[in-house]
Amino acid sequence: MSEPALHGRVPEHLELAGRAAGIALEAGALTRGYFERGVATEYKGDVDLVTEADRASEELITERLSAAFPDHGIYGEEGVRQRIDSEYRWYVDPLDGTTNFAHGFPVFCVSLGLEHRQAGLATGQDGELIAGVIYDPMRDELFVAQKGQGAWLNGRRMHVSGTKDLAEALLATGFPSRKRHVSPNIHFYQELTLRSHGVRRAGSAALDLAYTACGRMDAFWEFYLNPWDTAAGALLVQEAGGAITRFDGTPFRLDSSEVLATNGLLHEELMAQFAAMFAGRDLHPIPTPAEFAAQRAARSS
Ligand code: IPD
Ligand code: CA
Ligand code: CA
Repeated sequence: MSEPALHGRVPEHLELAGRAAGIALEAGALTRGYFERGVATEYKGDVDLVTEADRASEELITERLSAAFPDHGIYGEEGVRQRIDSEYRWYVDPLDGTTNFAHGFPVFCVSLGLEHRQAGLATGQDGELIAGVIYDPMRDELFVAQKGQGAWLNGRRMHVSGTKDLAEALLATGFPSRKRHVSPNIHFYQELTLRSHGVRRAGSAALDLAYTACGRMDAFWEFYLNPWDTAAGALLVQEAGGAITRFDGTPFRLDSSEVLATNGLLHEELMAQFAAMFAGRDLHPIPTPAEFAAQRAARSS
C-alpha cells in the first residue's frame, strides 16, 4: 500500500486533530509495515505481549508530537513520560491490539488522545479531552474528533447508531491481559450475549470505541482499561452523540477501572443490566462442561 494521505480526511478547522492525524497515519503505516514483514513477540506479563512495532511506533509518535507541540506532555503505554506536568497531555497507544498483531489477525490501530489540564488540577483529577485520533492502518480508516466540533471518519461526519433496544443491539467488549483472573467479565459476556444480537471481542478497545462512535457497534464495555486505550475513543463517542460513563452512570474518568460507552439510547438499559448483575439478579446459570455432557448423554439415551 502507498503511504496513507491526510488530504481531505480532517476538516481544516480541526487543527489539533489534523496535526495529530498526520502523526497517526505515519505511525500506522509503520506498524502495518512490521505486520506485513512479521516481528518477534516478547512478554510483558503472563499473556501481555509487546513487539518491536509497539516500541518503534511509540518512538516515532513521541518524536513527531514533541516537534509539533514542544510544550505538550506525552504519556505512552510503552513507557514514555515526557513533560507530564504540562497543561496539555497526549495519551499514546502506539499499537492497540498487540495480541491480534502478534498472531497475524489484522485488527489493530494507533490511538492518540489529548487532555487539557486546567491550572490547579490535582494529580488524580481529569482535565478535559479535547482531541482524539484513531487510525486503523489495515482498513485505512481515520477517526478524528475535536471537542465541540464533532467526529469524523475519513472526512465524513460520523454519528452513533439509532438502536433503541438492547435486544436489537450489537455490542463489543474485551478481556484484560493483566488482572484477567480477577475480572468477572465472562458473566457479563454471557448475559449480554443472551440479551442482544451478540457481543464481539475483536481485540482493540480503541477500535471498539471508534466503532461505537460511528454506529457499527451500539455499545461497548470493558473492565481495567488504561488512559491510552480510552482517551481518544471516549472523545470520539461523545462528539458522535453517544455517552460514556462508569457502569453505574458516574462520570467516566481516564483512570476508571470500568467503561460503558453507548449510543446514548441504550445507556439506561445497560446500566440497569449491570446493576442487576452486580446484585446477582436475573442471571442465567452457565452449565459446566460436565453438566452439559451429562445432559447430552441423557438426551441421546
Ligand atoms: C488491549 C486491547 C484489548 C483490550 C485489552 C487492552 P493492547 O490493548 O485494547 O482489546 O481487551 O484490555 O490491554 O495491549 O493491545 O494495547
Ligand atoms: Ca491498548
Ligand atoms: Ca498497546
